[in-house]
Amino acid sequence: MPGFESFGDAERKEVQDVLDSGVLMRYGFDGMRNGHWKAKELEQALQEKLGVKHAQLVSSGTAAVSIALASAGIGAGDEVIMPTFTFVASFEAIMMLGAVPVLVDIDDTLTLDPKAVEAAVTPKTKAIMPVHMCGSMANLSALKTICDTRNLILIEDSSQATGATYQGKPLGSIGDLGCLSLDFVKIITCGEGGAVLTNNEKYALHADHFSDHGHDHKGNDRGAETHPFLGYNFRISELNAAVGLAQLRRLDDFVSIQKKNYNIIREMLSQVPEITFRSVPEGGEESYSFLSFFLPDLEIARKASAALKEAGVDGCFHYYDNNWHFIRKWEHLRDLKTLYPISSEVKEGLKYLKTKTFEQSDNYIGRNISCLIKLSWTEDEVKQRAESMVKAITSVLK
Ligand SMILES: Cc1ncc(COP(=O)(O)O)c(C=O)c1O
Repeated sequence: MPGFESFGDAERKEVQDVLDSGVLMRYGFDGMRNGHWKAKELEQALQEKLGVKHAQLVSSGTAAVSIALASAGIGAGDEVIMPTFTFVASFEAIMMLGAVPVLVDIDDTLTLDPKAVEAAVTPKTKAIMPVHMCGSMANLSALKTICDTRNLILIEDSSQATGATYQGKPLGSIGDLGCLSLDFVKIITCGEGGAVLTNNEKYALHADHFSDHGHDHKGNDRGAETHPFLGYNFRISELNAAVGLAQLRRLDDFVSIQKKNYNIIREMLSQVPEITFRSVPEGGEESYSFLSFFLPDLEIARKASAALKEAGVDGCFHYYDNNWHFIRKWEHLRDLKTLYPISSEVKEGLKYLKTKTFEQSDNYIGRNISCLIKLSWTEDEVKQRAESMVKAITSVLK
């Protein structure tokens, strides 16, 4: 996901404003900042661009997920349903609050399977957290129906899908809360950063205070502010926010370049009858950061992954064998390897991980390859790449 590919004059100008004022912190120092409030400006811009009432910028996407959960009152012993395929951060963010991640299977969207979700709901379930992986989305209508009928909170982890939409609405703006990552390898970047999105006034207030030690942010004397409840420091710096401000203005351009490159490669790969593509829920429009497809079986996918590497086609991930994105390799979490004691509720809640298997997820992730789409390729490079991909993949199908 290519924000980092396109760091230029616009980003430098925003960062320079901050360096010139010398105020690197997002709160306070009103007199010194020459009118520059980069974090506030970026929050406003995110609200407008993504169609939400509130955007709270924070230090990372992982922090955004924890803050979203905390803002909705989710904590000790509460169960949060999440997919087997995500970045490990989604699991970590739930654990940080003493809540219990309940992993369920994905389907051919590479995101939560609504049927598996339905089956996993218990009296302890508080939230369902789809993760919109690799630029596309979960079936949000089906998940919303489950949430509405079971009185659960819907939290979108949209870290990998900024710029994608579902039924005309930006991902992250549809659930009760949405989370973005703005780290260095996302479609738009702050260097490091994240955001919590919501239309709910109470959650917005919670996210604002919780991410800054509980500060109520009233008045202009930070030391005199009150602390209605416990919070921590998940603040973003003005330098990071400045980069993101310039990047957000370019989001539409990034998506349209990716779409062009994606379509060229997809058209070429469509000529290989053994390849099928990830399904996108009706009404969904991807961000085109990745092209994800399936091969007939695990063995062929492994061989194709090796052949792509051999042919010099970079950025193609076979997540089945990846340490960070799929439950199969998360033995540190299965074995609860932590630096500090874990509550008995979480220990009990995670026992299922010792024995539970996820055959449906294994089937999809085992056969899946997801290829990064970059901004910087020329049209000729994209075509050459697509040809190399077809050649590499067909060579292992013989
Ligand atoms: C799906 C998902 N959730 C959460 C995160 C965490 O984001 P960050 O790296 O900003 O903490 C990531 C980062 O890769 C991610 O892909």
